Amino acid sequence: MRLLLLGAGGFIGSHLVETLVETGRHEVVGFDVSADKIPAAEAPGFEFFEGDVRTDLKLVEHLVRDTDVVVDLISYANPSLYVSQPRDVFDLNFRANLSVATLCVDHGTRLIQFSTSEVYGAPMGDVYKEDESPLVMGPVTKQRWIYASAKQLLERVLHAYGLEGTLDYTIVRPFNVLGSRLDYLVPAGSTGGPRVFSHFMSALLTGGPLYLVNGGTAKRTFTHVEDAKSAFVAMLESSQASRQIYNLGNPGNETTIRGMAELMIELYEELTGTRPGNELVEVGGDEFYGPGYADTSRVPPDVSKLRSLGWEPRFNLRATVGDAMQYYLDPAHQQFVS
Ligand code: UGA
Repeated sequence: MRLLLLGAGGFIGSHLVETLVETGRHEVVGFDVSADKIPAAEAPGFEFFEGDVRTDLKLVEHLVRDTDVVVDLISYANPSLYVSQPRDVFDLNFRANLSVATLCVDHGTRLIQFSTSEVYGAPMGDVYKEDESPLVMGPVTKQRWIYASAKQLLERVLHAYGLEGTLDYTIVRPFNVLGSRLDYLVPAGSTGGPRVFSHFMSALLTGGPLYLVNGGTAKRTFTHVEDAKSAFVAMLESSQASRQIYNLGNPGNETTIRGMAELMIELYEELTGTRPGNELVEVGGDEFYGPGYADTSRVPPDVSKLRSLGWEPRFNLRATVGDAMQYYLDPAHQQFVS
């Protein structure tokens, strides 16, 4: 098969390129604004095209024409951006991705669309099921929800194309995947930057505070990138995945954000032999991200649909967090971005 990965240079994209190239079973084409995160960039069986889907749609169309499966990972997936650049988030996460879907419809190409656990919005019930749980967004004036709304609307359009029989799609909703090359590191005391793991890791490396937004009582389930990779392969290779939506998460790995901070401190000591002296500091959401932030208190995935494809997560919370930390303990991976 020939696969086109749009957003191949991002965190999850770069890991999928690695897996696909390793198997040697597919021709893999990547497209992104940069290939810096792709260790397999020079590997045989992989071809990379540099571009931005918003300005280089002709090139994307040319690539789609020759492709069996398009994997669309293009996204801003960082809550600080939903608050500071909501319109850009809509333009990329809805408009640009819709153009990609339209190309897939025009050329009869299968589309695997990466979406987000955030489409569920505010928690309703004990567990999020793909085809049953309601999707509840907060008020318009809390612009954080523009991301989830854009992703949700995109999913609804794909589903509508599917009903018409004009698009063979699979939607993937990742739940807080962790691993090497996630986001970026920031200087001590930074606020509103990357996702929580990267903030805490940066603090441990610099001695700065670990900020607990709204007390750190929100819960997340963290998923090892290796489990995300095997889930992707299961969806790619199964005919059952046609016109289906899948949660990609590890329900056993739930923790509060405070618990995550404490675990990372403990793991840092275990991995380095040095007890970190960082402070845990509680801050308000608006103070940390700016006005317009809102949070979801729990994101509990039901993964029985993914399990029905023969997939099972293998990494517990300790291994998931520890493996990601290990990567950033290597000084070669410690570039800080202000
Ligand atoms: C983000 C994206 O918006 C989702 O689309 C994506 O699915 C998800 O990450 C993911 O990685 O899968 P979120 O889980 O809210 O969603 O992202 P984080 O920025 O990692 O925040 C998690 C929690 O930690 C939030 O409660 C946040 O307020 C808190 N936080 C963040 C802190 O307490 N301290 C920090 O330094 C940073």
